[in-house]
Amino acid sequence: MLTSAGCNALDYLLDDPASIHCVDVNPRQNALLELKMACFASGNNNMLWELFGNGRSEHAPVFFQQALSPHLSTTARRYWEKNLHYFDGKGWRNTFYWHGTSGAVAWRVRQWIQRRPAVRDLAEQLFKAETLEEQQYWFDQFEPEFLKGFMRRFLKSHLVQSMLGVPKSQQKLANARYEDGMCGYVRDCLKHVFTARSFADNYFWKVYFTGAYTPDCCPGYLQKEHFSRLQNRVCRLNPYTGTLSRFLQENPGQYTHFILLDHQDWLAAHHHAALIEEWQLILKNAAPGAKILMRSAAPEPDFVPNFVKKHLYSKKPLWKPLYPPIEWAPTQVPGFGRFRNNPLN
Ligand SMILES: C[S@@+](CC[C@H](N)C(=O)[O-])C[C@H]1O[C@@H](n2cnc3c(N)ncnc32)[C@H](O)[C@@H]1O
Repeated sequence: MLTSAGCNALDYLLDDPASIHCVDVNPRQNALLELKMACFASGNNNMLWELFGNGRSEHAPVFFQQALSPHLSTTARRYWEKNLHYFDGKGWRNTFYWHGTSGAVAWRVRQWIQRRPAVRDLAEQLFKAETLEEQQYWFDQFEPEFLKGFMRRFLKSHLVQSMLGVPKSQQKLANARYEDGMCGYVRDCLKHVFTARSFADNYFWKVYFTGAYTPDCCPGYLQKEHFSRLQNRVCRLNPYTGTLSRFLQENPGQYTHFILLDHQDWLAAHHHAALIEEWQLILKNAAPGAKILMRSAAPEPDFVPNFVKKHLYSKKPLWKPLYPPIEWAPTQVPGFGRFRNNPLN
């Protein structure tokens, strides 16, 4: 799987896989995963919660020196020696979750909201909503107040979108699809998040707004009851810094799952030859019945090469837009019934 921030890898460990290779071309992502793994390896649940639940701890330097640093690779140790202040809880951006590029954007958006009492009150009501009806009610009032003027220009800007990890290729897709470009895309995303699904346990968005998780609204890997299980299994995670193609070239095998996130949007727009190579390697290294999970900002993932499509069975119609993840499995597993009963499912 792509490492990204490493939370998903830890959550997948709860499913008891034999091992997970966490591949990311960005060494900072693996440094972050390693720090989370080190919290488990050192066996201190309070430390894990202070750093990644609260996002801040006055004890961070002691934790680092005494408990975490010995578990890190040289690259990760150097990275955290420079950046441990993310956790010091000082200054305006006083939580880890308001650092990094997407954290900085979250902080700026929050600051804009906090300075406008009317918008802030609506946001607070929206975040507190407990039913879909309440969410819809508060969103209808919040959205027109939020997506206007400065905030429209801010969210539309190429710099901000890049900081949020949305590459130019995805921005182009949004511009082609919506009359008001990226703003329309953001509006659709917000609408979906705030009105189509329950928000009460949406820790992804709450952490950006409040800068911390709460014990009843946090990712699985932070939940107390999972700590000892993850502590025993964390050695099954193998961080690798480099492209997915390089990983598969260096580590050929029969992999049962490929979690690709949305990185192929970028490859499709900028590096078509690399996209082809990546798919060839995925097919070559996929175990029969392997599952592939990916997403795209494109309304149709037509960038998936034809030579790939004929090997795959799609669980969701390929034209389904935006939100539902697309899952494919190689067609060696004949028929939907067999696939549905496949233990990999
Ligand atoms: C695609 S981004 C996800 C950001 C995105 N906006 C989201 O929705 O989460 C996930 C990770 O993929 C990594 N990545 C991109 N291309 C890659 C590649 N070819 N091989 C390995 N990792 C890659 C990036 O460094 C990033 O950490």
